[in-house]
Amino acid sequence: VVAAALAGWALAAGPAGGASMPSCSVTRGPENGRLGADCPQEPHNLSSGSSCQALCDDGYDLQGVMVCDNGNLRLPVCIPAGCNVSEALELVDNVADLGSCPEQLESGEECEPLCGPNYDASGNFSCLLGNLTTMECTSHWMPVPCPAGFEFEDGMDALNVHNRSVASAVCTPCPSAEYKPEVGPGPCKKCPAGANSNIGSHFLADCSCNATFFAQFEAETFALESCVPCPNNSQVVSGSGTSLEDCTCQTGFMREPKDDSLSLLVCRPPYNCNLTAFFNYANLTGPQQHQLKMGTCAAYEAGQFVPSGKNCHLLCDTGTGPQLGTDIFGAVDLELMCE
Ligand SMILES: *[C@@H]1O[C@H](CO)[C@@H](O)[C@H](O)[C@H]1NC(C)=O
Ligand SMILES: *[C@@H]1O[C@H](CO)[C@@H](O)[C@H](O)[C@H]1NC(C)=O
Ligand SMILES: *[C@@H]1O[C@H](CO)[C@@H](O)[C@H](O)[C@H]1NC(C)=O
Ligand SMILES: *[C@@H]1O[C@H](CO)[C@@H](O)[C@H](O)[C@H]1NC(C)=O
Ligand SMILES: *[C@@H]1O[C@H](CO)[C@@H](O)[C@H](O)[C@H]1NC(C)=O
Ligand SMILES: *[C@@H]1O[C@H](CO)[C@@H](O)[C@H](O)[C@H]1NC(C)=O
Ligand SMILES: *[C@@H]1O[C@H](CO)[C@@H](O)[C@H](O)[C@H]1NC(C)=O
Ligand SMILES: *[C@@H]1O[C@H](CO)[C@@H](O)[C@H](O)[C@H]1NC(C)=O
Ligand SMILES: *[C@@H]1O[C@H](CO)[C@@H](O)[C@H](O)[C@H]1NC(C)=O
Repeated sequence: VVAAALAGWALAAGPAGGASMPSCSVTRGPENGRLGADCPQEPHNLSSGSSCQALCDDGYDLQGVMVCDNGNLRLPVCIPAGCNVSEALELVDNVADLGSCPEQLESGEECEPLCGPNYDASGNFSCLLGNLTTMECTSHWMPVPCPAGFEFEDGMDALNVHNRSVASAVCTPCPSAEYKPEVGPGPCKKCPAGANSNIGSHFLADCSCNATFFAQFEAETFALESCVPCPNNSQVVSGSGTSLEDCTCQTGFMREPKDDSLSLLVCRPPYNCNLTAFFNYANLTGPQQHQLKMGTCAAYEAGQFVPSGKNCHLLCDTGTGPQLGTDIFGAVDLELMCE
């Protein structure tokens, strides 16, 4: 702890005439301290009425200033530094308040802060030269060992360490998507994200991926490592999937890419069909007699879509029948279907 004495100290009642006043010899600082750099070097004389800085060693606080008063040197003192208990308490969990402690504890003293309900102080605070020993508030309660597949309700500790009485200890089965292999106090462990398990499960092997995920196993132990989501709108249909190939589109969704031999990217909702674009491309319809007429498809023609799954019928001009250019006798289907 360092404190600077007042710089430029001057005695209020200095003689005006400048008659020389005895100076002070300053050869050493206070006990547990030293002289500052601004104190006079050889011959170490501090003129009357002036002051210089004294410093304290670590763990000491400076009290007073070094000043030469008409030949008498006033030395400051270095006093053992106290400790700020309220500051230290801010770092202690489950503490209630200062207890028997003053806010500022003197060096060499000890005191006992108060822990919260159901917590005991592990020891006292004691202060030595500005350093405070640490303490913590430990629970009265220790965890109840529950069987495999069970944990103590809401994870609270329930066994009183003082009299070993159990406070309404109820072991409850692990909830779904969790498991616990060992007898003991710990909480149930979570299945990997996307996996589920039955209530009261014991093992990681009891966790299995949801239908919209496929499982990935650790290479050496074959333990379930993670559940990888299937692409959008796809899922594993039967059993548990182990690769992307096991993901198939849900009913009503279209595979992208269409080709089954390529890896599934996404299952998209069906597009509606744009008849205008289709007719432009196919050149089937038109005003000439040999071209088809719009029929019930006219309802969709004005830039509208045929909704997926809906159909409509094209027509031939009155007095004409449908015929394929390549096959005069083949039956011709005039129905258009959007899928
Ligand atoms: C320094 O101070 C001592 C005693 O305080 C005095 O005897 C001596 O003359 C002083 N020396 C100087 C150079 O002022
Ligand atoms: C002790 O620390 C607290 C909190 O950090 C602060 O408010 C208080 O002023 C300090 N007290 C002393 C004597 O330094
Ligand atoms: C803690 O300090 C208190 C005084 O505040 C004292 O009575 C008690 O014996 C101390 N406890 C220990 C364990 O040192
Ligand atoms: C106080 O703590 C500091 C930092 O941990 C250390 O350097 C110093 O030696 C300690 N002082 C005492 C008196 O234990
Ligand atoms: C055990 O101690 C707790 C408080 O620490 C008390 O509430 C409980 O009644 C005690 N049980 C027995 C059986 O003494
Ligand atoms: C899928 O897994 C999550 C996370 O594990 C779980 O919360 C959810 O209930 C599961 N969904 C179904 C349908 O099982
Ligand atoms: C999958 O669906 C999510 C949310 O609906 C969307 O943000 C994401 O872009 C989709 N991914 C693909 C590849 O379509
Ligand atoms: C349908 O296709 C035509 C021709 O490609 C285009 O001009 C029109 O904007 C499309 N209609 C809609 C609603 O997208
Ligand atoms: C559509 O067919 C007619 C004859 O039936 C032809 O004249 C025209 O060029 C064709 N249009 C396109 C875009 O192929």
